[in-house]
Amino acid sequence: MSIKKIVFANQKGGVGKTTTTANLGAYLAELGQKVLLIDLDPQGNLTSAVGADDERPGMYEVLTDEVALTEAIQETPVERLFVVGSNIDLTGINIELVNAYRREYYLDKHLNLLGDEWDYILIDCPPSLGLLTLNGLVAADYSIIPLQCEYFALEGLSMLVRTIMNVKKHLNQELEILGIVFTMYDNRTRLAQDVVKDVSDYFKDKVFESLIPRNVRLSEAPSHGLPINLYDPACKGAESYLNLAKEVLQRG
Ligand SMILES: Nc1ncnc2c1ncn2[C@@H]1O[C@H](COP(=O)(O)OP(=O)(O)OP(=O)(O)O)[C@@H](O)[C@H]1O
Ligand SMILES: [Mg+2]
Repeated sequence: MSIKKIVFANQKGGVGKTTTTANLGAYLAELGQKVLLIDLDPQGNLTSAVGADDERPGMYEVLTDEVALTEAIQETPVERLFVVGSNIDLTGINIELVNAYRREYYLDKHLNLLGDEWDYILIDCPPSLGLLTLNGLVAADYSIIPLQCEYFALEGLSMLVRTIMNVKKHLNQELEILGIVFTMYDNRTRLAQDVVKDVSDYFKDKVFESLIPRNVRLSEAPSHGLPINLYDPACKGAESYLNLAKEVLQRG
């Protein structure tokens, strides 16, 4: 069985990319999968969300060929869940690679050197459609789009889907949209219901059935360096990410 590589992208900030990468990864690991998280965001939020050390060599050192990807892998508090971290140094990559040959393929090149012991690789992107996100889209087989249930989400969505289609056409034929996941969902608001309906009418079964509710426990967990399955496995947010992990396993 081949490794499944999923990129979490949305150029809009604060929509739940990192929260989804960390917690989906944690539940895939809990369900028996060996999972590697890749933090492609210089903010390093994914790194700290799973309690990893952002002072250790991470994606900057990997993408500049200072260390091998395998040497940068860190354990997390979750069994079978590992991470390659990042920190603010990663912003430098845009400059370092600006004239590099095939600069969109750097992450792909490094991931292709990994052994086949991995079941899933989950790549968290920064809130832009710049070179780092492009590297994520080029290296992945699938993308998951986290979408917050608000009006402007829809405008950003069409630009993102166009970008994904362009990457598929020109840089990575393998790339498919695995699904759209609604985050911070509040079923008491009419707007949230309308956004879910509009997107579902258009994207049909690409929309995951699991809706991630707005849940304060999900926002607290990163400051403890713990995914939600360890921080508060009984909360609503945890239940929703477990369901999402089951859906992802079914889809591919
Ligand atoms: N379901 C949720 N319920 C409550 N808070 C949430 C939920 N999902 C995410 N948050 C909080 O919202 C903020 C943004 O989430 P997150 O960092 O996952 O988004 P992001 O898309 O990765 O942001 P960025 O674009 O800056 O990387 C964080 O403070 C996070 O803890
Ligand atoms: Mg993030």
